[in-house]
Formats: sequence, C-alpha cells, structure tokens
Amino acid sequence: MAMNTRNTIILAAGKGTRMKSKLYKVLHKVCGMPMVEHVLTEVQKTQIDEIVTVVGFGAEDVKATLGDRSEYVLQEKQLGTGHAVMQTEPLLKDKEGTTLVISGDTPLFTAETLSNLFEFHDAKKAVATVLTSIAPDPTGYGRIVRNKLGIVEKIVEQKDATDAEKEIAEINTGVYVFDNQALFRALHETNNENAQGEYYLTDVIEILKNQGDTVAAYTMSDFDESMGVNDRVALAKANRIMQKRINETHMRNGVTLINPENTYIDMNVTIGADTIIEPGVLLKGKTIIGEDCFIGANSEIHDSVLHDRVKVISSYLEDSEMHDDSNIGPMSHLRPESNIGPKVHLGNFVEVKKSTIGEGTKVGHLTYVGNGNLGKNINVGCGVVFVNYDGAHKNTTTVGDDSFIGSNANLIAPLNVADHSFIAAGSTITDDVAKYDMAIARQRQTNKPNYYQKLPYGGED
Ligand code: UD1
Ligand code: CA
Repeated sequence: MAMNTRNTIILAAGKGTRMKSKLYKVLHKVCGMPMVEHVLTEVQKTQIDEIVTVVGFGAEDVKATLGDRSEYVLQEKQLGTGHAVMQTEPLLKDKEGTTLVISGDTPLFTAETLSNLFEFHDAKKAVATVLTSIAPDPTGYGRIVRNKLGIVEKIVEQKDATDAEKEIAEINTGVYVFDNQALFRALHETNNENAQGEYYLTDVIEILKNQGDTVAAYTMSDFDESMGVNDRVALAKANRIMQKRINETHMRNGVTLINPENTYIDMNVTIGADTIIEPGVLLKGKTIIGEDCFIGANSEIHDSVLHDRVKVISSYLEDSEMHDDSNIGPMSHLRPESNIGPKVHLGNFVEVKKSTIGEGTKVGHLTYVGNGNLGKNINVGCGVVFVNYDGAHKNTTTVGDDSFIGSNANLIAPLNVADHSFIAAGSTITDDVAKYDMAIARQRQTNKPNYYQKLPYGGED
C-alpha cells in the first residue's frame, strides 16, 4: 500500500558570499542557535517522515551541527536552488506524498506556518503551493507574478524581473510544498538560461502551471517571519525579531524583564516564574534559571544551572551550578565546573574554578578558589588564595565544615584542612591542619620601642 509521506528538503549548500565570513552562512547563530538548526527544529515539529539537507560549502560542519536529525546529500557545485533540490532525487523520487522545500537561511519560520502551508496545499489539492508574503521592500526577493484572475503564473527573480515586475510587493519566501513526484519531473525541464546562469527551483512553478497542474500560493501575514538572511544586517535584524519572541514568551510565563529590548536570552534557556532580570543581561547556551531569582544588570551566564531564589549581581558565570538561596557579586566570576551550595554567599571580586562550596559557606571578598572542595558554614576571609597550581599540576585543597580561613591566607595545594579548624590571617599554609587546630604560619611581629624617634622624620613632638 502506498504511503502518503511528508518529506522535507532543507537547502544549505550555498556559500553565503554576502555574509563575507569564514563561517558558513547557515551556521551563523540567531539567539545562540545556528540558522539551519532553527529551520530543522521547526520542521521536525510538523510530522515529517524524511528530512534531507543539501550540503555543499562547509558540509562537514553542517552535518556536525545537525547530526543524525537529518539525512544529507552533497551538492558539489552550487548551480542554483533547482540543482540543489535535484541532488535529493535518488533518495526521494519514488516517494508518494508531499515534499516541503525550505532554505537554511530563513531562521524565523514557525512550525505553525509550515503546518498551515501543508493544510492549505492539501485543501487546494494543489500540485505545488508557494508560501508568499507582502514585503515592505521586496528588493532582492523573487516576485510572485499572478494573472488577472489572481492565479500564480510564475516567480521571477530580482535580477530577471522587468521594471513592472519589480513593483510587485508579493515575494517568494523560498518555502514550497510540492507533490513529490511532480517536483522531480518538472525539475528535469528547468534550464539555466537566466541572469544568474543558475538552475532555479522557482522555475518549477511556471513549468507545472503550463502543463495544467494546480499551482497555489499561500500568503502569510507576517513578513518578518519569512525573512531570509543574506548579510550581517539581516542577521542582526533576525536576532532582534527572534529575541523579541523569546523575551515575550518568558514574560508571558511570569518572568519580569525590566527592559526586554536590552536583554539577550538564547533560544533554549529556561527561566522560572517571578524571576527578575535587569537590563544588559545575557543568558546563553543551555542555561536554566529557577523561580524567584534576581539577575542583576550586565550579568552574563553561560550553560549554567541556577536553582531557586539565587541572586546574581553583575557577574559572569560559565558552566556552573548555584543552589537555592545562594548569591554572587558584584563583579565575580564562576569558571567551569563550580558547584555552589545552598545559602552560599560569594561577594565581590571572587573567582571560583572547578570547586565545590558547601551550604552556608561565605567567601566575601577578593578571593580565588581554584580546585577547592569546601564544606559547610566555612568563613573565608578577604584576599584568600587557593594556590592550586605548582607550574605543572592543578592540585586540590579540601576545607572541612565550620572552619575559619583568616584573611590573606595562602592555602598551598595539595592540602587538607579538617573540620572546625582555624587558619590565622596572613598565613601561608603548606601542611595539613587537623580538627580543632589553629594553624599560624607567618613571621612573628617584633615591636621596637621608641624607634619612631630615630627615624629622619621622627623626633619629639
Ligand atoms: C531564493 C529564491 C527567491 C526567494 C528567496 C527567499 C531562487 C532562485 N530564488 O533567493 O525567489 O525570494 O530565496 O529567501 O530559488 N542553495 C543551495 N545550492 C545552490 C544555491 C542555493 O543549497 O546552488 C541554498 C542556499 O544555501 C540558501 C538557499 O538555497 O540556503 C537559498 O539560496 P540563496 O542564494 O540565498 O537564494 P536567494 O537569492 O535568497
Ligand atoms: Ca537567501
């Protein structure tokens, strides 16, 4: 029995010359996610059986980005969008059903629009349906040419358009659904006799129309959603539009953004209700933020997990975790693999790297904790250095619960400081410290009576 499948072809082989970039175009990111991955993610929400991505320039990088979420075909020479679709013929030509074609450089399309397009196509019993929109400035896009009855005749590219055609505001978004077998039959009839010397996918529309097939156009209302990114100006615009969408979703879910126009949240970040985010904040990668948190101005958080009621004040966090009711900042830095326990206080100018800090511990000021394993309720004074590097190896310092590390101490790793011990201020500690001990390791103070008077500026007052 023939299955009525839904397939998708993602075109992602072009170089993206107008980006003027070493990075391949469809891998440029919009809100932290490569453009082609945005496309694939939305496509996957619409019950697709088979997805084939056409790769060419940067093929290995695109495959590495999308992984096994797609199949791939290689287009060795970029001879046009029609030629690109042709490369999928061996994989798709025998399928009965519908094929969606979309470009890897249109990151703003939503699954909802793609589903609407499929439904419109089915309802019209069309052989091809092109997704169109009305552009405020259509320059650069293919134009939809309709006859007097409003029926789509063809698509003309900017470079091939007559002056009259250039006046048309209805543009080809570069998204289509086709009867699969009709698509490949028509592609064989295309040629490259046009201004760019390319095989245009857009010509398939006219070919099908001329052979009497039903060709439809579905006009979407939001032009912005259809925008194609060909240069960095458009990339910035796509980021703005996507950012607005993301931020509005968070606000609707109960997150306060003091100034959403100046808050930068990546695609897959999650944020709990009643969290407040001040201006200039960047939340990147796989960051997860709990409820009732406060993220103060100009903080930047990468790939980190914050539990509930965590407070971050103007700080920089990478690949770390902060548990309930902990706080950090201003001007502090969590480097990768730092695990900050509940109710921990990290104050200003504190750097933590690859360390665990237990519940209730306080590290208030000007301190470096590197490769530290700190227990609970420890007080770390001002200016303490966990001396973790001997020039060859990174070594660990362990500090037990309820200990006190005096200000300006150097803890030279590897080192074990037991529970309930006390390190005197200004000590350089090289040997382990046992439970209930006080360690003091510094030159003893000598007072010289009346020495002031022997100094050149001294004397009686
Ligand atoms: C294309 C359409 C145009 C439409 C616009 C919408 C054609 C001829 N023109 O123009 O009508 O308004 O998209 O954004 O289709 N690609 C390949 N192999 C190639 C050439 C292109 O894989 O040989 C890929 C590109 O990587 C890109 C996509 O196809 O992802 C579109 O190509 P691009 O050169 O950006 O086409 P446009 O000029 O934008
Ligand atoms: Ca394009």
